[in-house]
Amino acid sequence: MARHTVVTMPGDGIGKVVLPEAIRVLDAVGFDAEYVHADIGWEFWVKEGNPLPERTLDLLRKHKLGLFGAITSKPKKEAAEELDPSLRDEGHVYFSPIVGLRQKFNLDICIRPCRSFRGNLLNFIRKTPDGGVEEPAVDAVIFRQNTEGLYSGLEWTDPPAQVRDALATHPKFKPFAEVPNEDIAVSVRLFTRNACRRILTAAFEYADKHGYRSVTVCEKPNVLRETSGMMEEVAREVRKDYPSIQHWSTNIDAQMMWLTKNPEDYGVIVAGNLFGDIVSDAFAGLVGGLGFACSGNIGQDVAVFEPTHGSAPKYEKLDPPIVNPIAMILSAAMLLDHVGETDKATNIRDAVAAVVEEGKVRTYDMMRIPGGRDVLSRGAAMTPQVTDAILDRMGR
Ligand code: IPM
Ligand code: MG
Repeated sequence: MARHTVVTMPGDGIGKVVLPEAIRVLDAVGFDAEYVHADIGWEFWVKEGNPLPERTLDLLRKHKLGLFGAITSKPKKEAAEELDPSLRDEGHVYFSPIVGLRQKFNLDICIRPCRSFRGNLLNFIRKTPDGGVEEPAVDAVIFRQNTEGLYSGLEWTDPPAQVRDALATHPKFKPFAEVPNEDIAVSVRLFTRNACRRILTAAFEYADKHGYRSVTVCEKPNVLRETSGMMEEVAREVRKDYPSIQHWSTNIDAQMMWLTKNPEDYGVIVAGNLFGDIVSDAFAGLVGGLGFACSGNIGQDVAVFEPTHGSAPKYEKLDPPIVNPIAMILSAAMLLDHVGETDKATNIRDAVAAVVEEGKVRTYDMMRIPGGRDVLSRGAAMTPQVTDAILDRMGR
């Protein structure tokens, strides 16, 4: 029997293309695992009224480790229209299954490393004072609180009377007092001290273990005094246990500016759910974009690893496939880190770095050309060729 069982959830669109590539790499590196498929995504919303079927949750409960591809989410109205006619009027409401997974298993620690690979044409560059060009080495790791904040799902349009009444107890509700109920939409940003402490502790621990000199808390406490304020307050407590690590604070808006001015200054970054979503895409943009952006969603019991890109449905049916599998492969390497197989993870990352630096085998995004049918004739690699090159480098 294999040592690990990994629940594979390809999901929608290109999730189905990239996930098998990651498994090829895991097999090649000698990871002792077997894989069980689990259903998730749009197809199951349409057919069953639930994009995250209970049987998938059961598999994760049992095996604790997941690899996830990508999902398609559509706005409320479109989601309702695509639902199988026999299921309409049954009260099904679409909710993103990846957000659902994070919440169901309390995968509250989201880790998103954004590291530049040498030789990547997509790396961020800037001008030097003498008119030359320099390419700062980016090595930022975003810790995103993954379950609360504006993703809690506590929201209403036309809120129930109790909610409106509760809001009306706040002096700041005055300007809204005359607005008709159906014209009010509310999304609650709820933080808990415990979750703040967990994400901050995870971030400081990581910085300590991996030699980062700073942890930056990226929130907006000057305006969001309660929620961001709580994150800041807890950070001041947690940092006491890590005297050798500097604790910096930035506001999310300023951070979005600073990250293109001096991205090399940042190490570990901590943010609430939505700001973490934003700042992790922003840093990913400096190191190659979503084709390189890997992540881990880690709870106390279960962990699920996924590339942060979407399902890019327009590329799903292209045969041969042309999308970049690197984000998915790096996510698989994070899974290896998680189960303590650090050497294997390093082996994969080194091979990816070597392939990128060599620059011979590149998907269209790595060549900076638009995606489409013609990319292969323009010299771009197919998806599996990138994996082949990585396997070659690993000597497999
Ligand atoms: C991400 C994605 C998701 C999120 C979407 C697909 C719901 O943007 O993983 O960053 O917002 O968390
Ligand atoms: Mg995102």
